[in-house]
Amino acid sequence: MNKPVESAGARSFFSASEDRNERWRELHRLAKALASGQTDKLRQEATALLGQLTPLEELCGYPGPRLMAQVGERLKEGDGATLARLTQRISVALLTNSYRDDPEAWKSDEEDDDPHLPSILPPSIGRGQARKPYAEVLIVSPGERSTWEPTRESLRKLRRDTDQFVVEPVVVGSFEDAVLAVLVNYNIQAVVLFDGFGYPSHAPLADLRELIEAYLPKAAAARDGDLAMLLSRAAHAIRPELDIYLATDRDVAKLAGADEASGVRRVFYALEEMLELHLAILEGLQERYETPYFDNLKKYAQRPIGTFHALPVARGKSIFKSNWIRDMGEFYGANLFLAESSATTGGLDSLLEPTGNIKVAQDKAARAFGGDRCYFVTNGTSTSNKIIHMAVCRPGDIVLIDRDCHKSHHYGLVLAGAQPYYIDAFPLTQYSMYGSLAIKPITDALKQLKAEGKLDRVRMLVLTNCTFDGHVANVERTMLECLAIKPDLIFLWDEAWFGFARFSPFLRRRTAMGAAAKLRAMFSDPQYKKRFQESKGALPDPEKVRIRVYESDSVHKSMSCLRQGSVIVVADQDFHTVEASFKEAFFTHTSTSPNLQIIASLDVARRQMELEGYELVQRAIQLAVEMRREVNQHPLISKYFKAATPAEMIPAEYRKSGFTDYGQPGWTLAKLIGALDSDEFFLDPTRITLLCGNAGYDGSQFKALLASEYDIQINKTSRNSVLVQININNTKSDLAHLIKALADMSRAIDKRLAEGGAPEQATFKARVKSLVEDVPDLPNFSRFHDAFREDPKSKTAEGHMREAFYLAYDAAAREYVKLNAKEVDERLKNGPEMVSAKFVIPYPPGFPIMVPGQVITPETIAFMRKLDVKEIHGFNASLGLELLKPAALAALKKGVKKERER
Ligand SMILES: Cc1ncc(COP(=O)(O)O)c(C=O)c1O
Repeated sequence: MNKPVESAGARSFFSASEDRNERWRELHRLAKALASGQTDKLRQEATALLGQLTPLEELCGYPGPRLMAQVGERLKEGDGATLARLTQRISVALLTNSYRDDPEAWKSDEEDDDPHLPSILPPSIGRGQARKPYAEVLIVSPGERSTWEPTRESLRKLRRDTDQFVVEPVVVGSFEDAVLAVLVNYNIQAVVLFDGFGYPSHAPLADLRELIEAYLPKAAAARDGDLAMLLSRAAHAIRPELDIYLATDRDVAKLAGADEASGVRRVFYALEEMLELHLAILEGLQERYETPYFDNLKKYAQRPIGTFHALPVARGKSIFKSNWIRDMGEFYGANLFLAESSATTGGLDSLLEPTGNIKVAQDKAARAFGGDRCYFVTNGTSTSNKIIHMAVCRPGDIVLIDRDCHKSHHYGLVLAGAQPYYIDAFPLTQYSMYGSLAIKPITDALKQLKAEGKLDRVRMLVLTNCTFDGHVANVERTMLECLAIKPDLIFLWDEAWFGFARFSPFLRRRTAMGAAAKLRAMFSDPQYKKRFQESKGALPDPEKVRIRVYESDSVHKSMSCLRQGSVIVVADQDFHTVEASFKEAFFTHTSTSPNLQIIASLDVARRQMELEGYELVQRAIQLAVEMRREVNQHPLISKYFKAATPAEMIPAEYRKSGFTDYGQPGWTLAKLIGALDSDEFFLDPTRITLLCGNAGYDGSQFKALLASEYDIQINKTSRNSVLVQININNTKSDLAHLIKALADMSRAIDKRLAEGGAPEQATFKARVKSLVEDVPDLPNFSRFHDAFREDPKSKTAEGHMREAFYLAYDAAAREYVKLNAKEVDERLKNGPEMVSAKFVIPYPPGFPIMVPGQVITPETIAFMRKLDVKEIHGFNASLGLELLKPAALAALKKGVKKERER
């Protein structure tokens, strides 16, 4: 199969590090060939390759101008042997990241005694000191190129042995080059803008130009504005965590107080004080590096503390002195126990009433995740969700909710007493899974509620973003369209899987906090009022609209955090109105013995994401795109397996841009980002639905095979697929592991079919057909039984689920019917209606097929009978379906009627 031609920009975005390493390897190969026999052709090839590499390398601290110049010189001289050694050294250093702390990486081949070397090498390198974290600072200079090296040198000279970080300067000369550097150089942690630089880049490469245009579609139009301020905003739009400094000879006092400079961390007057700049850069880094809770916990663990409270494992004596459980101590190490306490003294702070380092850690997390507030939760997003439901909903409130939301929401609604109005996601019947909830059914529901005079009871909309299978909502449009109908609607975005997206400029726009920030900016724009008036009600009323957004996020699912570490991130203009109930809800659900290590790891995960989240997420996306490409273009593997494309996972009506796949021929990065902005749904590239039906495996079978034969763990399955999740932990070796397994399996199937002859082939074909074509329909939410509806004639679907839930606590109100019993079919045909007493939740994926009070339909039964997951919460096959007795329902109905008549 021919490889589709990706646009250069899209490729340089999705495969930047892969391509960079590949080019250096290729240059090394050419250098070796040159060394063994010169040809003009080889030299020309190497020169052209170096020409492609140079504009990109100029944006990076390593190998840096000095080594790059040497590479160029050796090539010009035709010194293949030296060039080969040099390019090998650079190539290995880039591949292994060793340049961050290995002096050898910075030396050129023949320059061991280079007198300039000590100033070039960061002080921790080569001077026998402990490794310090390495960062690069981008200097945007108006000066001639000849002044750049002295600028770099003057900053390097300020390094002191006592510095906590090693900072290497990178100099560029224009707005566009600065944007490119921020995009492609992951090491950049701070940007220093020397006022007076120009706009255009002189980089000749089309792919780099495409990158700029993709990220800055409007910047070109603003060339005449204040470039320093524009660049500060552009850099933050890409990487909000960067520290930005401005050196100017304008009126600094005035500028420093101006609104447009609010993103600038510090303004310097013409850099009178280079040392001040150096110290400011270090302090900015330190602010992100500091993990107040973790740092204190480490200190606490070192102190000789006597404990007279509960928790015998604290300090570890009951373990290390034990005759029988010492292996636990050996396995986990002493620190786990030294860092344990059930007290909140010693600076450990209290998760329930944080006033010290937990509070500071949470504030830092709020900054990192883009909210106004952040709360640490140590019992997973299951608990975060319940806290939010209880905090903002009151009994009787109506909550619009995607029926496929995680079970914690449904339980949260029972606890809060709010009435769910279930709306169904679009189905992907062919893969036995649901997609996500489209905007129209939500706005239709809101309009119907409005028509029936119930809009004031509607409190919240709950949606999952992204879904287990990677459907990413158009968060901004969803909120905009809903707010146009109900301007004070609260949104709960369950981003359990999507926390990492905050750190990708590509995906951030489709996160709850990314969209909330955009809407805030939109509504506060003086032009907005006019737009609203012209919109004829399609936009929210600026006089009434409120931004009330809650995001729950399993940090443990996509970042380096211990299991159950979760956060609630809040951007709620009216938080003061729910602050007290939020506290109550937090108290209700939070253990009085929260796990200290989980809190510490939330703090550390935040540090990592603020300092290297961009790089890690970018690499994970690149790896995932590569994985998709490898599976679908491999001649053998693609016979039996497929990574489902966005076109296969998202119906065309929700992909109006026409986007079908990553690497789609002819699609520039700008066009791809356009799709990301406009399409109703987008597929998270890192969540790969691997279709295995054509290989004759159902999802569970395939998952078991991967685990038993190949040591590969997968979590979620469907009838004919498994979900491969790529995260910041995955490497190229993992990719190779899975690809090898798929190739081995494909080879084995080929062999079996060839050797088994016609009978084997017929059996295989039938099996594939059953898996791929004979798929059960997915049951929609039917309705709540009339006993749980205030007005059975109402067209809106909300119901008293909590009443049904508690009715089932009464044994006399319950009955059981075996799933396969004739009675089930009988009752489906002739009644009485079967009404679920329980949540019935197959896991994974963990959303309810039935909820308490729901009328059971033939579709639900057909689906249950075909269900192939082992764990079905709320269903005991030997007892059967747990139902509410018709008599109990009738009695309830009568009782409610009496209650209403009174
Ligand atoms: C969408 C969604 N929300 C919430 C959760 C629960 O998260 P946690 O495992 O952190 O409790 C899950 C778990 O799978 C989920 O898929």
